[in-house]
Amino acid sequence: MAKLLYSATMSLDGFIAGPGGDMSWMTPYLGPDPLFDELVPNVGAILAGNRTFRGDDPYRDTPAEGQAFGGAWSGPQVVLTHHRPSVPWPGVTFTDDLATAVALAVDAAGDKYVNVLGADVARQCLAAGLLDEILVGVAPIMLGAGTRLYDQEGGTSVKLERIRSAEVPHSSDLWFRVLR
Ligand SMILES: NC(=O)c1ccc[n+]([C@@H]2O[C@H](COP(=O)([O-])OP(=O)(O)OC[C@H]3O[C@@H](n4cnc5c(N)ncnc54)[C@H](OP(=O)(O)O)[C@@H]3O)[C@@H](O)[C@H]2O)c1
Repeated sequence: MAKLLYSATMSLDGFIAGPGGDMSWMTPYLGPDPLFDELVPNVGAILAGNRTFRGDDPYRDTPAEGQAFGGAWSGPQVVLTHHRPSVPWPGVTFTDDLATAVALAVDAAGDKYVNVLGADVARQCLAAGLLDEILVGVAPIMLGAGTRLYDQEGGTSVKLERIRSAEVPHSSDLWFRVLR
């Protein structure tokens, strides 16, 4: 059965998006990356929140704009939203229920990963005990404000076990298993 893996590139101070959802800070840090390049062909489906789906793109103003992983991946996507579009979107299923979204994505992913994108959706998957792994690339930048990798009102501890790591000049990658 597919595992759920939350992946993101994060600033050293813990943000995956800058103020107002800005993603332009990430553009200089795109490029070959050992762990993310290993992950991408093993992603069977994407489970994303609507702010990720409709949000800013680090590949903005390039030919790869609007494509998952800058065009390195294509496949089924499930998007959580209370605002379903009125017209169908090829390859994308919209739903307003987490359990339904996870079931659809797991089914679509086969024996590959469901790649969870978006901090809000990842937080809900964690709270439901459904998140298996986390892959974070730490970029050499601090943003000071924005969307945190993980934000839980009141705070809560999530214990992790590091299972992989890798270094490239633009990223320190850390791959974790979520301990339950
Ligand atoms: N650095 C990276 O690698 C990276 C990767 C991915 C995303 N990002 C950035 O991170 C930000 C997105 O993260 P986020 O935490 O702000 O948002 P998110 O998780 O992407 O999306 C949140 C939205 O999803 C919908 N949603 C979430 N749970 C739902 C549920 N249970 N039922 C129905 N709808 C639900 C809601 O949309 P509606 O308002 O439509 O109902 C909600 O506003 C964006 O700025 C994105 O560009 C960064």
